Amino acid sequence: MDDNLKQLQDYAKANHVPILLSDSVNFLYDIVASKKPKTILEIGTAIGYSGSIMLSAYKQSSLITIEKDEQSFNIAKSTFKNLGLTGRTKQILGDGYEEIIKLNADNQKFDFIFLDGPKGQYLKYYKVLLNMLTDGGCLLVDNVLFHGLVRSDIDVGHKKRAMITKLRRFLNEIENRQDLITTIHEIGDGIAEIYLK
Ligand SMILES: C[S@@+](CC[C@H](N)C(=O)[O-])C[C@H]1O[C@@H](n2cnc3c(N)ncnc32)[C@H](O)[C@@H]1O
Repeated sequence: MDDNLKQLQDYAKANHVPILLSDSVNFLYDIVASKKPKTILEIGTAIGYSGSIMLSAYKQSSLITIEKDEQSFNIAKSTFKNLGLTGRTKQILGDGYEEIIKLNADNQKFDFIFLDGPKGQYLKYYKVLLNMLTDGGCLLVDNVLFHGLVRSDIDVGHKKRAMITKLRRFLNEIENRQDLITTIHEIGDGIAEIYLK
């Protein structure tokens, strides 16, 4: 397992694929190992790195993971196959939002949801995803502090400004909703851990 994950890290580095930062890997592994979710949903498969970590943290879990990029989707397919995880994984190739709308319409529920897809769209995703949690289920959202920029006054330039503004709105909303228990972990790129009260 370690060798395979190391190979994935090397591939991601060489090909500029953004995957979980190492602190976040430990956090993700530990939270899945402690919560023991039977059903996991992930938005943003990339090459299957975080998905493999979650599946290895709790051996009785199964994963539905959504990715819009076909090349990444195919690499992830090999990843899950090489790690013997294909039987516990359902990969969906498509737009994350369209796919979660379909899963929600099918009344599919998950014990654990990992949102690691389009950063600028978290506000619209998380409302649907909250409805897809089982009782006590956890919604984990990565990159919420985006290199520390979300909580800083540094001017990020126009390219990133819109995304940072949207992430700020998202953080503000989840931290102020009275019906949620939200913890922002200053780990990796910032991780939000969210539960419905
Ligand atoms: C940060 S990477 C995910 C990393 C992965 N979770 C890991 O740690 O191994 C974000 C991924 O989300 C995918 N993505 C971006 N927008 C998406 C969308 N609208 N629907 C589905 N996937 C999307 C990207 O193609 C990319 O592979």
